[in-house]
Formats: sequence, C-alpha cells, structure tokens
Amino acid sequence: MRLRTLYLCYCLSVVGVLLALPAAAATSDPWLDHNGRLPARADHAGPLFTLSHDYPAGLPVPAMLWRSAIGNAPISTANAAAYTQSLKDHVARDMVALLAGDGDWDAGRRGWYNDPWLGSQREAIKGMLVGGERIDDSMFPKSGLSKPFTTYVITYYNRTGAQTLGAIWRDPHAPQLGGNATQYAEGSITIKLAFTTAGPAEWPAMRGALSWPMMMTANATTGQFDRATLGRGYLMQVDIVVKDTQSAPQTGWVFTTLVYDRATRPGSRGIWDQMVPLGAQWGNDPRVDSAANPRAPLQETWINPNAPLYATETLGWGGRLSGPNDHGVNDISVLTQGRRSLVRRAPNSSCLSCHGSSQWNAANPAKGMASFLMPLVPPEPGGAPNAGAPYLNSPAPGSAAWLRWFQNRRGDEPMDTGSVAGDYDLALTFRVLPAWHQARSGKKHALQKLDAGGTALQRE
Ligand code: HEC
Repeated sequence: MRLRTLYLCYCLSVVGVLLALPAAAATSDPWLDHNGRLPARADHAGPLFTLSHDYPAGLPVPAMLWRSAIGNAPISTANAAAYTQSLKDHVARDMVALLAGDGDWDAGRRGWYNDPWLGSQREAIKGMLVGGERIDDSMFPKSGLSKPFTTYVITYYNRTGAQTLGAIWRDPHAPQLGGNATQYAEGSITIKLAFTTAGPAEWPAMRGALSWPMMMTANATTGQFDRATLGRGYLMQVDIVVKDTQSAPQTGWVFTTLVYDRATRPGSRGIWDQMVPLGAQWGNDPRVDSAANPRAPLQETWINPNAPLYATETLGWGGRLSGPNDHGVNDISVLTQGRRSLVRRAPNSSCLSCHGSSQWNAANPAKGMASFLMPLVPPEPGGAPNAGAPYLNSPAPGSAAWLRWFQNRRGDEPMDTGSVAGDYDLALTFRVLPAWHQARSGKKHALQKLDAGGTALQRE
C-alpha cells in the first residue's frame, strides 16, 4: 500500500509534473491556433489567441545593447545584474503591451513568434500550454503555499530567433534539422511566461500578481481536470534567454529569469516593474563540486540577493539558477555501494543543465531525446524497468554520470553522439518535434506514455 502511494506520488510529483504533455488529440494542422474549446461569450469578450508564424528570414545582425551594458566583456557574477537589466529593458515595451492584454498586442506586428504543432495543446484565450500539471505544495514550504498548483506557459521568439523556426519548419510536415538548421543566430531572444493557478488565497507570494483569463483543462488548485473551464492564472516567472557567444563563449547562451515580487512597488511600467531578476546563468560551473560543498561559490550563475523568498526555494544544484516554474528540485533515489537512499527535494538541475539535454535522434523519433532532462541512470538491459521507483533513479550527485548534465557545451554539440543538438531549445525537442511526430505517426509519444505509466521511459 505504501509503495503504491509512493508510486502514484512519483507519477504526479516528479514525472507528471515534468512531462505533463496533455493527451490531446493529434492534429494534422501545424498552424492550428488553439484547441477550440471556447469561453462563453458572456464570460469573455476579449480577443482569442492567434498563432504568430510568419517567420522572417535573411535579417541583418541586430543591435545588442546588453553586450555594451557590460562593456563588451564576458559576463561575470560582477556584471550579470547590469546585463539582466539591459535585456529586461530591451523587451519592456513589448512585454508591457502583451501583459496589459487590452487588445494592443499583435505579436507578428511587434516581431514575436510562436512554435507550430502545439495547437491542440493550446487553450483558446492566450494560447497557453500546461507546463506542470501538478506542483505539490510541499515544494514551497517557506512561502506558505497551501494548495498544489498547475502551471501554464507560453513561449515567444524574437525576429532574429524566429528565423530558426522558419528554417526548421519551411516544410511544416518535414522538419529540417541538418545543416545547422537548429542553431540560433546571435541576438536571438526567447521569452517564456509562466503562470500558476495558485492565487493570493493559496499563496501569499502571489498577492497583487497579474492574472490572465485562460480556458483551463487542468487546475490542481481547484482539483478540476475534466473539462475546459474559464479560470485565472497568476504571472509568476518570465524567462528571457539570449544567444550571445561574445558574452558567454562556452555555451553561447545567457539564461535570465524574472519573478513576481510583491514587495517591489510598481512604477510607470506597472507589473513589469514588479518582475525582478531571480538571476542569470551562462554555464553549469562544471568544476565546482557542489556535492562536496553545497555552498561552494559559483562563477557561472548569479543570484539576485534581493529576490523574493519563494523564488529561491527551488534553486538548482549547489544554487545554480532555476526558477519556481522549473522543476529543478526533485525526489531522487541514489544507489551507492549496493545501498539505495531516497533524498526528498534534491536540487538536481539548473537552467543550462536541463536545457543542455536538448537534442534529437532522428533514427529514433519515438524517443527523440536520448538522455532525460535531469540526471537519470539508464535501465540495465533486462534489469528492473524502474529501479529508482518511486523516485528518479539518479546517479550519485557529483559523480561522473551526474556531471554529464553539468557540462558546458556549445549549442551545436549534442549531449549524446548520434543526435542533432537543439542549441539549448527544449520547446523544439521536448514539445514540438514530439507533437509533430505524434501527428505523423498517430502514436502517442514515449514521453507522453511516461506520464500515464511512470515507467515507459525506462522501457524505451
Ligand atoms: C528541469 C528542466 C528545466 C529547467 C531546470 C529549466 N527549464 Fe526551461 N524549459 C524546460 C522545458 C521542458 C521546456 C519546453 C517545454 C515548455 O515550454 O514547457 C522549457 C522551455 C523554456 C523556454 C522556451 C524556449 C526553449 O528554450 O525551450 C525558455 C526561454 C526557458 N525554458 C528558460 C528557462 C530558464 C531561464 C530556466 C532557469 C531559470 C529554465 N528554463 C530552467 C525545462 C527546464
């Protein structure tokens, strides 16, 4: 009985959270806007989501003020705050318009674009996807979260970045991955907005947060999972990542994230002023042994010392950057010298660690990503399918196997040989290519099967 409970817990709190790809009907229309489950007119008079996919091509290299903000030097813990602020300012005007939700937002006109193939997973009002189906309230013990929540996310690529989407999906039924098509040009920016269903009543951290109406198919806070219902999501996190090989020569990327801070007063830009940096990351600090010393200083992560408490509860391994939306903390099971130990709430990831697993194995599209998002021991042939159940079967923190997930690779270097590297873009390899493959083959993707069964990944 106990095992069974734990097993369910594993599905929901570890795997279900991460791999909550809704079992939506496959669609053969790559450009479908949304799943068609509309709000009643009386409940929602505003516009509905339309997909921005008129991807540009042949653009010149853009101006990159964030580089000059740090004197065209490499990014460091000393200048990362200035860099993050410059990126935030660069996108402010468009983000203020998007968040205002007053009809002044036209993504294509402003030069922001979305991924194809996800229409059947998008809700109709804002085009949001379920990110994590159920984040347990035990994940945020210090900030008073009283109910579990579901997260809703949407990603926008800037003009420079959208050229890559255009190159991959020129024929939307036959993605082009070879010839460096998956690589992003310098100055590419991707923004991901994350909303939580936990509002001020369930989570004091969300008092005063911006909320958006959404047609929710999952809501762990109210416990409703069966039909599309009009609800509200509260803006928790805004990721802004940029391809910038000058500032971050080892990985080519700087990952920054902003989080809602109720203690910050809004200024002329309203809620945008209350989105404060949680931090920035441009490498995985592969040489810092955070297993031996969890407080060892990092050189490739900067954390804002004034970030709100709730956002610092889920930092990644050794304090590497990871946000409240990012599942960088998980229950893991580790086998050392024949003994298995279970570690609750182990920080086992980071922005660049998880995103570094972006790759695609065209020879095995049913699996696609050869390594999991986070440190995982592959099952032995003929061995137990899920040796670590109920938790993630993890290599020992700091071991060579674990450190595969904490290297600094260039975006065109895959984690596993035989795969095409996805240049740190997980939307492509974790969501979009699986959706395309599912539509083409009519089969559920391996990652989706995992959500239901908990062990499918191990069987692949
Ligand atoms: C444990 C895994 C994990 C961690 C940690 C993580 N992400 Fe992600 N991220 C994902 C997955 C999976 C997706 C794609 C699916 C989706 O959007 O839900 C994604 C999507 C994104 C996207 C959209 C474009 C893209 O590259 O896929 C951005 C931007 C992003 N994440 C930024 C961040 C930032 C910034 C951090 C750290 C603060 C972070 N992520 C930490 C798993 C992770």
